[in-house]
Amino acid sequence: MNRIYADFNATTPLSTVAQSWMARAFEFWGNPSSSHAHGRQANEIIEESRDLIARSLGVSSFEVVFTSGGSEANTLALLGSFFLKKPQMRLLTTTVEHSSIRDTAGFLQDQGVPVDYLQVKRSGLFDLEVFERQLNEFRPTLVSVMAANNETGVLFPLKEMFGICQQRGIILHTDAVQVFGKVSPEEWNFCDLISITAHKISGPKGAGALIVRRGTPLVATHYGGAQEIKRRGGTENVVGILGFGGAASDLPTPEEINNVRILRDTFEKTLLETLSGVSLNGADVTRISNTSSIRFEGISSEVLLGALDLDSISVSAGSACSSGSISPSHVLLAMGLNKQEAKESLRFSWGKTTTREDVDTVLRAVIKHVTRIRDRKRKV
Ligand SMILES: Cc1ncc(COP(=O)(O)O)c(C=O)c1O
Repeated sequence: MNRIYADFNATTPLSTVAQSWMARAFEFWGNPSSSHAHGRQANEIIEESRDLIARSLGVSSFEVVFTSGGSEANTLALLGSFFLKKPQMRLLTTTVEHSSIRDTAGFLQDQGVPVDYLQVKRSGLFDLEVFERQLNEFRPTLVSVMAANNETGVLFPLKEMFGICQQRGIILHTDAVQVFGKVSPEEWNFCDLISITAHKISGPKGAGALIVRRGTPLVATHYGGAQEIKRRGGTENVVGILGFGGAASDLPTPEEINNVRILRDTFEKTLLETLSGVSLNGADVTRISNTSSIRFEGISSEVLLGALDLDSISVSAGSACSSGSISPSHVLLAMGLNKQEAKESLRFSWGKTTTREDVDTVLRAVIKHVTRIRDRKRKV
């Protein structure tokens, strides 16, 4: 039996387009910084890739700074701002960010940087008035808010936030890892600093970028060479960068994105209609088209995830797995779920290769296991 993959927010399968671009890197193996023909050829294909990524985002090529992925791009955005404005830096972020932002914010706090957090409501969102009030009171120099949450898919109102930040001369960074390829870049490409990664758009792991919009101040955090116009030293990951460019040239079409949305909505509707004690985390707010975070009352996500895994279905508990046990998701806790409720939630995330049959098979398996586990608990 073929395995069904419903964890596209964790990573995506490598596309054939990305693979064929990566194969070119084996032909042009020179060091892109060398000034001889081998080097120039390698540099040219990197620049081709950069142009494709820039075009897919609607930004200029020189604004694309290659990194090893989304985590490094996030870290560079925060630390690059810190090293530039050490004594003045003040960071405002949210309680639901990816660990690369959370942990960097924690490090900055340890260095004496004032950091404030926007609390989200049960919906997974915060009110813009609260955002504005917090800006006025806290007076950050940098705001870092993800474009969409990786666990719930909840979208943040970046356009409005950017307008508010711009009026006050505050730099806005967004972690756009989960919206790239799912939401039109016009909705988020205006931010001053933007993190993206290749492996969420069917490119390879270990390649990403920080988009540094023209005029945005930032210093490098990696030294070693003049690569990336001195914004990120180190010999480039040519294979990864080419795979990234290939993937960016082959993003899902609006029709493909809509097909995923239809499948996701069918999945949610059927579950909510068929099973009692099922609720959607992040219901009633705008979400990316492919994500469902669902709570099954009385069912441990660890148990359900294991049962689905045995049925050849890959989903995520949407939380960190440490020392063999699943800890409750900080995102769901921040949304006001208690530990027990957070540990009853699973994340299903679909992608362009998902079929109606996949969704139907997952539905049958989830309904079977939830009913079985509840029946067994009732008898005990
Ligand atoms: C929202 C978000 N930001 C950042 C990252 C990290 O990206 P990478 O795996 O490329 O380091 C992820 C990956 O799961 C993510 O979902």
